[in-house]
Amino acid sequence: MCGIVGYLGNKNISSVLLVGLERLSYRGYDSSGIAILSKNELSVWKQQGKIHRLSELLKPLSIQGNVGIGHTRWATHGVPNEANAHPHLDNEEKIAVVHNGIIENFLELKKDLQREGHVFRSETDSEVIAHLIERHFEGSLEKAVEKAVKNLKGAYAIAAISENDPGKIVVCRKGSPLVIGLGKGENYISSDINAIVSHTKNIMYLEDNEFAVITKNEVVVKNDSGEVLEKEIHHITWDAEASEKQGYPHYMLKEIQEQPAIVRNIISKHCTDDSIIQFPDLRMKDRELKNSSRFIIQACGTSWHAGLIAKYLIEKYARTPTEVDISSEFRYRSLLPEQGQIVVALSQSGETADTLACIREAKSKFFKVLSFVNVLGSSIDRESDGVIYTHSGPEIGVASTKNYVAQLLNIFLFALYLGKLKGHVSQSEIDDLVKEMRLLPDQIQSLLDQEEHIMAIAERHHQSREFIFIGRGVNFPTSLEGALKLKEISYIHATGYPAGELKHGPIALIDEKLPVVCVAPKTATYDKMFANIQEVKARKGQTIVIATEGDDDIVDYADDIIPIPACLEELSPILTVIPLQMLSYNIATLLGCDVDQPRNLAKSVTVE
Ligand code: G6P
Repeated sequence: MCGIVGYLGNKNISSVLLVGLERLSYRGYDSSGIAILSKNELSVWKQQGKIHRLSELLKPLSIQGNVGIGHTRWATHGVPNEANAHPHLDNEEKIAVVHNGIIENFLELKKDLQREGHVFRSETDSEVIAHLIERHFEGSLEKAVEKAVKNLKGAYAIAAISENDPGKIVVCRKGSPLVIGLGKGENYISSDINAIVSHTKNIMYLEDNEFAVITKNEVVVKNDSGEVLEKEIHHITWDAEASEKQGYPHYMLKEIQEQPAIVRNIISKHCTDDSIIQFPDLRMKDRELKNSSRFIIQACGTSWHAGLIAKYLIEKYARTPTEVDISSEFRYRSLLPEQGQIVVALSQSGETADTLACIREAKSKFFKVLSFVNVLGSSIDRESDGVIYTHSGPEIGVASTKNYVAQLLNIFLFALYLGKLKGHVSQSEIDDLVKEMRLLPDQIQSLLDQEEHIMAIAERHHQSREFIFIGRGVNFPTSLEGALKLKEISYIHATGYPAGELKHGPIALIDEKLPVVCVAPKTATYDKMFANIQEVKARKGQTIVIATEGDDDIVDYADDIIPIPACLEELSPILTVIPLQMLSYNIATLLGCDVDQPRNLAKSVTVE
């Protein structure tokens, strides 16, 4: 969590930092701040709340300077207030530090430093870093940073500046991401490319235990033994425009609307005109996949829901046993390594700390790791043996929408690819399945065109304080995803259940006020879903039913009905989730919630 940005150069420094922070604010947005060196004097401005409050504070000031760092915070240690906002300063107020991650041994370090006379101004773990650098400072900021981080336990990406060693930013990382953007007579740092891509497309990724000293004209990267490293420069091919709102009121709405185009793009990337499925970037050999004996999927949040659907698809098409775990739980299992087992990670950001920790754990036990990742060059991308890029473009809205659909489609394609490798699916079967898949972009568009209808349903139900979502089979995870979308952006309590479990408890909640969203397309589980919907109606629940177009039988049991086009069962979760995204979006906007930056959440969760 938290976002870091930094700039050295002659542009308007506060504007570069503020724009960067705005673009990083999906990583946390409870307070923010910047520190700038001007004529070798350090100044710091901080503000509680979202970035626009810091912008307002800075607007009347004419800030000069050519070295600066900034931070947007997601609180871990200490409440979101101005004192706990970064940058943090040392005793003498000569050194400013921004930090992303968690310092696990901060209490013991703080006590030591307090005994030495350091006075702390915040409740954060991060402030110890500034005091540690001060403790070791003897004229060289980089030397002091190198010595200071030797005391730290935990995860960090750190950027430091000092008025006693001006003209440079010193950065280092262990466990939290940091990129360096290269310009002419100027350089940038950031937690991700998104914040700086409008300025430069030439990027260097800092790896764990690396340090960099960055000036306007030079970047020197060293490892923790002090050796200077030759770093690869990556050229980014996408534009800043891809991560802008482009006239939409919210990123979430823009990202929902982008889904037909994204699906079209994924199909063209992974499927030839002759329906041959290919994964050109996969760094895993076909032989390895063919010999796979079991997949153990691990992911968090929406990506975990995609993982639950992956189980159905991989078991169906590739007939390979598949387990699914929430990453934060996976780590407490006794993994029993066995020939041919592959651990699969699903992650939009590629930085989720729990998911990344599982990858490291799995690799330490000699498992092969295959990841489905959206952000190229992210830690999960770089640390996995094999990778499938989900290609949904930058996703900024905290609630994941387009990347979920992209994950589901990539999983479908992968399951077919694997099924063919293992001899369980023939090319002629794939030809038929691909024909169905090619209908998806228009089918999704037809769902997006139901905007007014879904808004009317949202208007009827947005005052409810509780919702239940039910589904079965491949659409049981859809019910989880629908409930998650609603609660994260509208703060309405919502729970998803496998419909068959209703009778084991949740049915007690049903009364005439409770909206029950029933995901009931015509699939193998339809008859059973139909019976469950009747059970809800018999108890006077308000049913909102996602049903296949032309399903006249279900109409009598639906207070509201959202038709979806007839489709292949295995592809149905790609369609059924669209109206649920729209319903949540509309309910949240009717309630006046900040859908792109819901309270307490962050998009990229880099703490465990
Ligand atoms: C956060 C986000 C969710 C996301 C989850 C996993 O909780 O708010 O939208 O699904 O992290 O993120 P990942 O980047 O690993 O898919």
